[in-house]
Amino acid sequence: MTILILGSGGREHTFAWKISQSPLCKNLYVAPGNSGTAEIATNVDIGVTDFQSIKALVLEKEVNMVVVGPEDPLVQGIHDFFLQDEALKHVAVIGPEKAAAELEGSKEFAKEFLYRHNIPTAAYQSFNASNVEEGYAFLETLNPPYVLKADGLAAGKGVLILNDLDEAKAELKSMLVDAKFGAASNKVVIEEFLDGIELSCFVLSDGKNYKILPTAKDYKRIGEGDTGLNTGGMGAISPVPFATEEFLNKIEERIVKPTISGLQKDNLPYKGFVFIGIIKVGDDPKVIEYNVRMGDPETEVVLPRLKNDLVEIFQAIANQTLDQIEIEIDERAATTVMLVSGGYPEAYEKGKEITGVKNITESLAFHAGAKLDGDKIVTSGGRVMAITSYGNTYQEAIKKSYQSIEKLHFDKMNYRKDIGFDL
Ligand code: AMP
Ligand code: GLY
Repeated sequence: MTILILGSGGREHTFAWKISQSPLCKNLYVAPGNSGTAEIATNVDIGVTDFQSIKALVLEKEVNMVVVGPEDPLVQGIHDFFLQDEALKHVAVIGPEKAAAELEGSKEFAKEFLYRHNIPTAAYQSFNASNVEEGYAFLETLNPPYVLKADGLAAGKGVLILNDLDEAKAELKSMLVDAKFGAASNKVVIEEFLDGIELSCFVLSDGKNYKILPTAKDYKRIGEGDTGLNTGGMGAISPVPFATEEFLNKIEERIVKPTISGLQKDNLPYKGFVFIGIIKVGDDPKVIEYNVRMGDPETEVVLPRLKNDLVEIFQAIANQTLDQIEIEIDERAATTVMLVSGGYPEAYEKGKEITGVKNITESLAFHAGAKLDGDKIVTSGGRVMAITSYGNTYQEAIKKSYQSIEKLHFDKMNYRKDIGFDL
């Protein structure tokens, strides 16, 4: 079959790497892709929310399946766009429909869903510009730190965690009244702070059946010891050592099952990945957030551990026969370390030549913000490349990633040297 992947990050290179191993895949396109996907697929320079150009490409290349990497096209309704078009409705789209994508598109929607289905999560209230005074009063009832979340998509920057009450009030005003995050902060969810260690749980849903993929933990802060600004993710490890069988059972019973049945009860059509951000408070899992796609860089450690043919899994999602698939997981641990441009997640330079990629033999190099410039590979984003390794333990795997990184170079390359430090 002919498959199109939408996106351009490390996640999408990993999808392309895995899909290209499938005998079911004859032609593979990535829009817009990067220097990594260019090696194994055909890149097409189309943006992920340019639905008309995507339609033209799908018709021209006779694409049978579209795998949606990032959240934006899902929240904007790409799946619905395909279903509503006579010429496109036979094409399988991996990713939820718009109504279900609101689980990521609106924090308030997600909180209401969690409460409606009795899924453990932090207590909350939401506010808008007309009741900002009530928001101040609610903050006064909470203990610090204060958690403020812009309701809409804010490119991972919409969550503020503040220790000081006056600062929290000022930020609430800035979000609601001064549109700090644009329309995304027209509404703000204020949450109880949960203290614990986080992990990500990935679930495949075909709208009826579900399968759970390996857990992963990502490292979001730029600085060692989990300090400094939030990033898209600086590294990841799978499996998560503290996710014991007993804890995973709690996640499945208390969170995954009611999430999947809740989607059906609420008539939210979901054929794709459910990414559940979980925090372990004491011995109990609580939901921090839903994302309607795979994580990045979690994909770079989860997919390398999946032994199944990914295209077969995607077909089962499209046909609602996921119950017939048996997920097979590589027992080894996988780790990834993200190489980033100096300055990221603030201002950084692009266009730096990346050398040594070909010398990496003991790890997988998944390209992210990297593109071809003639026969050179140059940086084109903040997160540049994810170096993934296997090991019998995560310590062994992480050591291999760091050894491979020694062979790579670009000007002002930065990375965290402590991935896994807290485990
Ligand atoms: P989110 O975008 O909802 O995942 O939030 C970003 C990050 O903020 C999470 O990964 C957590 O580290 C942190 N966070 C979000 N909500 C809470 C909460 N209620 N208590 C503690 N930390 C939180
Ligand atoms: N690594 C977190 C995310 O993909 O949202």
